[in-house]
Amino acid sequence: MTIVANAPRVQHSTIDPAPVREIRVAVLGLGQVGGAIAALAARARGTLPASFEVASALVRDPRKPRAIDAAALPLTTDPRTALASKPDVLVEVLGGIEPARTLVLEALNAGIPVVTANKTLLAYCGAELFSAAAAAGVPLLYEASVLAGVPFLGTLGRRPLARSVTGFRAILNGTSNFVLTRMARDGAGFAEALTSAQRAGFAEPDPSKDIEGDDAVEKLCVLLRHLAGFDIHPSQIDKTGIAGVDGRDQQHASAFGGTVRPVAAADWSGETVTAYVGPVYVEGTNALSRVDGVQNAIALTTLWSGELFFSGPGAGPTVTAATVLDDVVEASQNGEATSIEHEPASPRAANPRLRHRSRQTPPVTSVNDGAWFVRLTSSSLGEADAPSLLASLGVRIRRASCIDARSGRHSQWLLTHPCGRAHLDAALDVLSAKTGCSAWRIPALE
Ligand code: HSE
Repeated sequence: MTIVANAPRVQHSTIDPAPVREIRVAVLGLGQVGGAIAALAARARGTLPASFEVASALVRDPRKPRAIDAAALPLTTDPRTALASKPDVLVEVLGGIEPARTLVLEALNAGIPVVTANKTLLAYCGAELFSAAAAAGVPLLYEASVLAGVPFLGTLGRRPLARSVTGFRAILNGTSNFVLTRMARDGAGFAEALTSAQRAGFAEPDPSKDIEGDDAVEKLCVLLRHLAGFDIHPSQIDKTGIAGVDGRDQQHASAFGGTVRPVAAADWSGETVTAYVGPVYVEGTNALSRVDGVQNAIALTTLWSGELFFSGPGAGPTVTAATVLDDVVEASQNGEATSIEHEPASPRAANPRLRHRSRQTPPVTSVNDGAWFVRLTSSSLGEADAPSLLASLGVRIRRASCIDARSGRHSQWLLTHPCGRAHLDAALDVLSAKTGCSAWRIPALE
């Protein structure tokens, strides 16, 4: 290796330091993420081509103890003060719908660019907010709302060929991935793993949103709008929580060569949108199986660029703050609304097969075919040959575990070949009627 000392900086670099300019930011919410934004804004001073001044910080209780030193910050409990502080950019990290929705609309209507990390707000009120941003001609940026530490939404927004996407498979929730990874790797119990995720600041204030899949559903809806222009309500998405996964599922998944991960998947290459959020058996050969802990990842199926894979930290106050502040810089430089919403990312225009479709959102269905990971449990499974019985009912079995007879119950894990969901469920009903076993099944991904 040649070491070049004192190498001159090339003049045409696209990351040349620009003159430092100060951006005034009003921050709505000074919780874990809002606090990290204020702290990072202060720490980054002098090291970036932008510097940030917190013009006001909206809090519920100014006396509340915080992880950051808030003494020097202009705290206010009055949203009007925050909006009146003449910010260049308003940052909304309150979470939830109200008062975030009202304040974001007020800011947009007043011509103030908005940056938000609030996937709930975007999932439930996206149509209204993006219309307001377009009408006002101001940016509404939301890079930190999905894969918080991975700047990929904006990248796709500027690249029309790369964003000709027809589907994705992703791990969108850091907390549930952290929990399932710890159960698989260390044999940790569910509660212990969840507590560590909460302590690290990954989990939502109400962790049931992570565990039951609502957080990932909201992110999936943000992605469906961003990538395809579909306005899909979270209630339309089929979701399953991860609380039904136990340590033995992970052990047997590992024996089959895979692992159980919290997956969000969508596909709109056909006449319907297929979407699912929940635990999925992922083969060890699939890159998603190696996305561990709080990491998130998304594999996009594109028309022209093959599969694009983005991964990185999906949660955590500092990584989210860094993404939000990058959005702030972008929003402050950009006079126009930059959401893809105003120029659909859908491949329809480019793909003759899809061209006839309007921007009307097609019907949403769940995962219907593909392979399945099945757990059978009963008091007497040993007497029945469940794999043969299922095979006789047309469900071809790829792998079957030995019968596990711990805790006085008999359990067996199966991996099927591709099989329609209705067909599998009918066969499991017959098996259940004949043997008295109960069945739990999740999709399996190659
Ligand atoms: N609770 C979320 C997660 C935070 O665990 O992924 C980031 O959106």
